[in-house]
Amino acid sequence: MKFKSALSRLLPNSVLRWRDASKDIGGMVFDADSSIHEDIKSKYNFDEALLELFVGNEERPVHKWHHYIPLYAQYFSRFRASPVRFLEIGVFRGGSLQMWRKYFGENAIIYGIDSDSECAKLNGLSAQVRIGSQDDPEFLRQVVDEMGGIDVILDDGSHQAKHQIKSFKYLFPRMNRGGVYMVEDLHTSFWRGYGGGYGRQSNFFGFSSDLINDMHHWWHFNRLKHPTLKDMCSGVHIHDSIAVFDKGAVYEPTHSMVP
Ligand SMILES: C[S@@+](CC[C@H](N)C(=O)[O-])C[C@H]1O[C@@H](n2cnc3c(N)ncnc32)[C@H](O)[C@@H]1O
Repeated sequence: MKFKSALSRLLPNSVLRWRDASKDIGGMVFDADSSIHEDIKSKYNFDEALLELFVGNEERPVHKWHHYIPLYAQYFSRFRASPVRFLEIGVFRGGSLQMWRKYFGENAIIYGIDSDSECAKLNGLSAQVRIGSQDDPEFLRQVVDEMGGIDVILDDGSHQAKHQIKSFKYLFPRMNRGGVYMVEDLHTSFWRGYGGGYGRQSNFFGFSSDLINDMHHWWHFNRLKHPTLKDMCSGVHIHDSIAVFDKGAVYEPTHSMVP
């Protein structure tokens, strides 16, 4: 570890950028005297129902970065106790689907997709589970059709930049207006093993910045990269490792001076 940080001081950034910067997350733990509940509550001033559901989760494991919990509530809480159509990409051991069922309630239409056929055994427990890859448009089409539309998407799947972008390009246009699309674990955008790398335009942040540029097309004359997406994305929110996109109406800005 000491050798690694000494190396970082010695090598110029241009060289460091080409290393595979995949970070060892093992050391990113909270204060041993605290608890999960206390860590989230004290750092993020958050004490809502989702916190109880996360810390009290039993049976099927769910692994989340602590700062995600208040962010989920910030963007998803308005869909609670409604017949929201929620899709999670990446099921793993089913813990998050279990948590989402408790959070959104019995009226929610919850689907999870995963490329691992083992996840099929979780089908029907908390949610519907379908097996296929997030980069397969035909598979995604079947899932969207079966769900009858989608309001909320959470991409916690392969974390490969190409997959994240391909899923977004296919699914975002098919979401209902008023919906939100969240992509998590975007620290992988900096890791070459996931098709990322610092400042690379091909990672998910590069894709997002192209979309942000296109959303501002009124203000410049540069070539559009995502001409159709810009007309349906009414907001982009960036947090550590999380990007959220609002599906909404977009209007050319107008202005007034009053009185
Ligand atoms: C981080 S885990 C999901 C964890 C789960 N959301 C939770 O919080 O409990 C990622 C999952 O994505 C799945 N996955 C990997 N590549 C995929 C792909 N191309 N399409 C769909 N799922 C994929 C893996 O099999 C794995 O189960």
